[in-house]
Order: sequence, then structure tokens, then C-alpha cells
Amino acid sequence: MAVCGRIFEIVSRRCNDNQLVVTIPNIGPRSIQRLCINITPLRKSHDLRQFHKLFLGHDTDIEELFYMAFKDEGDNIIVVDNISKTFPGGVKALVDFSTKIHRGEVVVIIGPSGSGKSTFLRCLNGLEEIDSGTIEIDGIPLDDNKNNRLEIRKEVGMVFQLFNLFPHLTVLENINLALRRVRKKSKEEAIRTSMNLLEKVGIAEKVDNYPSQLSGGQQQRVAIARALAMMPKIMLFDEATSALDPEMIGEVLDVMKKLAREGMTMVCVTHEMGFAREVSDRVIFMEAGRIVEVGTAKHFFTDPNEERTKLFLSQIL
Ligand SMILES: Nc1ncnc2c1ncn2[C@@H]1O[C@H](COP(=O)(O)OP(=O)(O)OP(=O)(O)O)[C@@H](O)[C@H]1O
Ligand SMILES: [Mg+2]
Repeated sequence: MAVCGRIFEIVSRRCNDNQLVVTIPNIGPRSIQRLCINITPLRKSHDLRQFHKLFLGHDTDIEELFYMAFKDEGDNIIVVDNISKTFPGGVKALVDFSTKIHRGEVVVIIGPSGSGKSTFLRCLNGLEEIDSGTIEIDGIPLDDNKNNRLEIRKEVGMVFQLFNLFPHLTVLENINLALRRVRKKSKEEAIRTSMNLLEKVGIAEKVDNYPSQLSGGQQQRVAIARALAMMPKIMLFDEATSALDPEMIGEVLDVMKKLAREGMTMVCVTHEMGFAREVSDRVIFMEAGRIVEVGTAKHFFTDPNEERTKLFLSQIL
């Protein structure tokens, strides 16, 4: 697995609750050797501007440093360790797959068809069983314990390529269902929350419509509102815009960008590289159930390491 870090390397790092100390050789004309950074605000916002300030005037690559410094950071909301999944018939959808995702991080997953992207997302919320390895969501192991699985289902919202709204329920009823059944809200509270969510995704005027009366983009925004109604800590998006007409892609991506800016932890399978560049903290390129390369969107756009990555990007860009 290749990890970016062409421009510099972090020789060592120490991290406690509020301070990160990194030692870096030969950066820029003044050759900074050791940096002490108060990471409390960074942890909350993943704010790149803090790094920009620190490196003002130096010849370095801020995003890469940010990624390198934080890739092992402690506050991991998703910890996936060495998972494998083989489907009946022998297809190895995931092979020794490991990653950690920080709270508030936006990760984009790219890769050719059949590389295991959907399987990975489905494993994260327990829709698919893994054969080996472990998954932990916000400290809860996704194991055989039924309560753990229920808890994880609540914390992980998912939006699919096809919207999967209930056709016989109105927009409001589609959203209310989760609030009433899963979050056990009173009727009044459920309606109030639903309306807030519909406003958030910019579709409050369609509250009494049925899914068939909405455009694809509108249905997908309702699907996002429905997933948010569970008040999840993590949102998974599996090609949420790829079934949409081009003019509707933007409106759904806008909702996703808004969520990202609000600090939602997001794992998004998407080929929307503009989205990746604008909001992702990290891009994972996978093939045949394995991670081929990980880095910032900028790394992938400007100078990916692996030949396989270059070939794939040349096909989708
Ligand atoms: N339920 C299943 N039974 C058998 N094989 C499956 C099943 N689901 C997925 N697979 C196989 O596992 C592999 C990974 O599938 P997956 O859907 O995760 O790929 P993907 O990267 O999401 O592809 P795409 O970009 O086409 O959506 C594929 O070879 C697929 O055919
Ligand atoms: Mg898929």
C-alpha cells in the first residue's frame, strides 16, 4: 500500500490530548525541524488554515502534512482491522482490508466496478457479514452481540444509489418512520424534526408528495433526510448521485457538502472528483478488495504513486 508523503516525511510524532509534536527534516528554506501544534481546534474542525498559518512562507505541502500528521490520530470513529469477505462462489470482495477513519473525516472511496466498494460500506453497518477481522464503530465492536449491532445501525446512516424510499408513504411519512420506530419520538416531535430535516435538504415544500411525484434529485435528498432522521454519527453514501440526471447531481452534492462542513463523518463511494477535491480529507483507491493507494484528493490529482491508480484516474477524469 502506498501512502503519500513525497514532499517530506514525518520522522517522529508525539501526541497527547492537546498537543502534537512532529519532527520534519528539510522543509523549506529555513528547515523547520520540530513543530509543536495545539491540536484541540484542529481535532474539532480539521481546520487546514491552522497549518497554513504555521507554514506561511515555507515550501511545503500543507494538505499532505495534515494528512500525515493525523492519519494515526487517536479519535477514530471507525476502526477496520484486517477484514476479509468472500462471497459464495468464491469472489473475494474484501481481502485483509484495514483502515481507520477519524471523527468528522470525509473519506472518498474510488475504484473499478467490482472492487469491493459497496461491500465495504455494507460491512460497516452490518448489512454484510465479514468472514474475518474486526470492525469497531465509535468504540462498539460489530460482533455477534445483537445490542451492539442495533446500536451500530442507529449510528450509521446509509444512502444508496437508488433511493429506496417507501413508495406508498409520503415524504413526511418516509422520514417519520425512522424517528418513531427507531428513535421512539412522539408524533409531534417526529413531525417537527422531519420538517427541520426537509428544510435542511431544501425540499420542505414536497412534504405531502409521494416519491413517484418527485424528481430523482429530490427523492435522493429525501433519502438523505431519512438517513439523517436516525441522528447518525456516520453517513455512508454509495454512489448517491450516479443514477441521477446530470442537472440533479449538483443539488444532491450540495447537501452532502453541507453535511461535511457541519462535521459529519462521511464515507462516500463516488466518482465525483470535484466533490472529492472540495470536501474530502482522504481518498482511498481500491481494487480487487484491497487498498491500492491512500492520500489526499490533491495527491491523487497531481501525483499518484501507483501505475494502477494513474490508469484508473485517466479513465474517469
Ligand atoms: N451478494 C453477492 N453474492 C455474490 N457475489 C457478490 C455479492 N455482492 C457482491 N458480490 C461480488 O463481490 C465483488 C465486489 O462487489 P461490490 O458490489 O462490492 O463492488 P463495487 O466496487 O461496489 O462495484 P460497482 O462499482 O460496480 O458498484 C464483485 O465481484 C461482486 O460481483
Ligand atoms: Mg458498488
